[in-house]
Amino acid sequence: MADRTGIFAGDDPFIIAKNWLAEATEVEPNDPSAMALSTVDARGMPNVRMVLLKDIEDDAFVFYTNYGSAKAAEIEASQTAAFVLHWKSLRRQIRVRGTVEREDGAKADAYFASRSQKSRLGAWASRQSQPLNSRGTLVAEVARMAAQHGTAKQRPEFWGGYRITPVEIEFWADGAFRLHDRFRWVRENGGEKWEISRLNP
Ligand SMILES: Cc1cc2nc3c(=O)[nH]c(=O)nc-3n(C[C@H](O)[C@H](O)[C@H](O)COP(=O)(O)O)c2cc1C
Repeated sequence: MADRTGIFAGDDPFIIAKNWLAEATEVEPNDPSAMALSTVDARGMPNVRMVLLKDIEDDAFVFYTNYGSAKAAEIEASQTAAFVLHWKSLRRQIRVRGTVEREDGAKADAYFASRSQKSRLGAWASRQSQPLNSRGTLVAEVARMAAQHGTAKQRPEFWGGYRITPVEIEFWADGAFRLHDRFRWVRENGGEKWEISRLNP
């Protein structure tokens, strides 16, 4: 598309996303990779929460979480998710909708091992999204895990990644007088070819 220039230019949306994230990393005060992750429950009721985008691969986006969490149950049931990255300082957003699969292999092991010991123990101790009667119970569980696992770096089976493979990506940038720029990239599930259209703001 002739007028897809500047920050929107390029043939590979994953490279554009990487470039935008790199720019955001320079200017955002906190968590430039924070994204609002949306899922639907069994009744079709939407759900949303923040997670950290940990990798932009050649063809997918990866984040990590607890496989016993509410989000995991919703993802496993629908095998789909959507997310939005928004950078206030850049006045830009990236929206993604796609299919989801687990990343519970060597990559998840390596990422888990790279986390601080306290974060690893926290992951071992938390039954994410389950009721907790007090903070003391959680702190005691962390201590119990420390005694049990010590400095061991292995990843719990109930914790790992999800890989979102997009069928749709939208790049949005703020424009003067609310005349924002939007480019939507769409492809058939598993297809190689992206259809790109400019959208009204
Ligand atoms: C900035 C930010 C980053 C977060 N990153 C993660 C993350 O990477 N993984 C995760 O499981 N939860 C993360 N959380 C916590 C989630 O928002 C959420 O509370 C938790 O995952 C439970 O969600 P669920 O009950 O819908 O599964 C983050 C929260 C914030 C505010």
